Amino acid sequence: MTQAASYDSEGWQERAKDWIDRSARFEEQVRPLTDAMLAASGLQPGYRVLELACGPGGMISNVAQSILPDGELVATDISEAMVAGAAAVVEAEGLGNVETRTMGIDWLDSPAAVADRILCRFGYMFAVDPESALHEARRVLKPGGRLIAATWDLPEVNAYGVVPNRALEMAGLGKVPVVGDRGMFRLGSADDLKELAFSAGFIEAAVTPVPLSFEFESLEDLLEWVCGMSQTVETALRTAGPEGQIAFDQAMTELVVPYSNSSGGISLPGVALLLTAEA
Ligand SMILES: C[S@@+](CC[C@H](N)C(=O)[O-])C[C@H]1O[C@@H](n2cnc3c(N)ncnc32)[C@H](O)[C@@H]1O
Repeated sequence: MTQAASYDSEGWQERAKDWIDRSARFEEQVRPLTDAMLAASGLQPGYRVLELACGPGGMISNVAQSILPDGELVATDISEAMVAGAAAVVEAEGLGNVETRTMGIDWLDSPAAVADRILCRFGYMFAVDPESALHEARRVLKPGGRLIAATWDLPEVNAYGVVPNRALEMAGLGKVPVVGDRGMFRLGSADDLKELAFSAGFIEAAVTPVPLSFEFESLEDLLEWVCGMSQTVETALRTAGPEGQIAFDQAMTELVVPYSNSSGGISLPGVALLLTAEA
């Protein structure tokens, strides 16, 4: 019997080493999104910035340097192991204006109205209750402060997320997630996300799609990537046994054909949604 990913903090603890090891490559893959988030943030020297669900800390350096000399960044994640990865980045880069803390996205351990900006890349879909979590962000932002968050657009424009899940489904090990399921596609369309921000009390909200392309040298490269990055795939395959692994690999081989080039490289498209919301 295969197990489904829970997306709880233990699950992320287990994925932390793989995310830390693959952080530089992930940053390359999502560079257009990070650039768009930084542009939407309009960071200024002196800003107080909070990052939520920071993972291994791929955005920390850019943010910290944009608010020098006297701005401060507090980078947080629910997984202690992810926070340790982020702290290692801070230390390696000698960033004196960054604090790292273990903190969940649903209950922010912070006074009200203290942050100029809150950033969160691919985190809100894992909140216990995304609307309350957004409400918490609004509470912690100063009046006129801004939340800049990224989620995933719908499955139909996200081969990057759908292909591995379709392969699990074909192998009898899972199913393709639909909007509302905890995981990548939980928060739905651009309109859904904007509506959620207004429901959480933000006074202005805009959502922009950001197309991404995830590049792999070969099927082996892609398989190695998804087994490390995806809780769903890793959990299902760990509990499936060798036959499940073979069925998954065969399904992946079929499914990547439309995204493959003549030298065996694979390019999987995805679309992120960039939410900019004003408190
Ligand atoms: C998809 S990863 C994104 C990491 C990072 N923001 C990035 O873009 O590289 C999701 C992150 O959310 C964190 N996370 C999951 N549930 C959380 C929660 N309830 N509160 C805070 N962080 C959470 C995980 O530990 C993980 O680091």
